[in-house]
Amino acid sequence: MMLTEIQHPDHAGEIAALHTGIFPPDQAWSAADFAALLNQKTKKLLGLRKESELIAIAVFQLIPPQAELLTFGVARTWQRQGLAQSLLTHSMAHLARLEIEQLFLDVAADNTAAISLYVSLGFTTDGCRKNYYRRAGASDIDAILMSKNIFNSLLS
Ligand SMILES: CC(C)(COP(=O)(O)OP(=O)(O)OC[C@H]1O[C@@H](n2cnc3c(N)ncnc32)[C@H](O)[C@@H]1OP(=O)(O)O)[C@@H](O)C(=O)NCCC(=O)NCCS
Repeated sequence: MMLTEIQHPDHAGEIAALHTGIFPPDQAWSAADFAALLNQKTKKLLGLRKESELIAIAVFQLIPPQAELLTFGVARTWQRQGLAQSLLTHSMAHLARLEIEQLFLDVAADNTAAISLYVSLGFTTDGCRKNYYRRAGASDIDAILMSKNIFNSLLS
């Protein structure tokens, strides 16, 4: 497994294909969305490849000394093998080298898998945004706001 930084808009199609396989249709981002992100210096896209296949992706917005995790996922067939933990751990080290001290994220209140992952990595809850996520054909879902001091975590 290899940590890879994706910088070129030519990769937008493969990232979108991965994202579409992970998220429901109303939440998946398109190749155009990823191409736009890849053209912005404030965004950082880190992934994991198995041989040449992209199997996990994390997209960050950098606002030094803070960063925000914008989207994150592991291909369905590769889940529950520690890859999310590995990608986030390596990403936090990468971001810390860019002088990022605090990493923020929001997660749907019903996403128990992701919440357990973030808690296991030392993220703590800062608050809640009521009915933040709109879901096609379902009730709105609260967003749980979480953060972690990644500078300190690297020292421990
Ligand atoms: C959430 C997600 C990224 C986890 O990826 P993963 O590679 O399967 O996670 P890992 O194997 O690294 O798991 C690490 C820990 O997270 C938690 N976890 C992961 N998947 C879980 C699940 N389905 N149920 C409960 N806990 C889970 C566990 O604590 C796990 O540790 P353990 O395996 O020792 O019990 C993956 O399920 C995914 O891509 N989901 C869809 C997209 C998504 O929800 N992204 C997050 C948006 S905020």
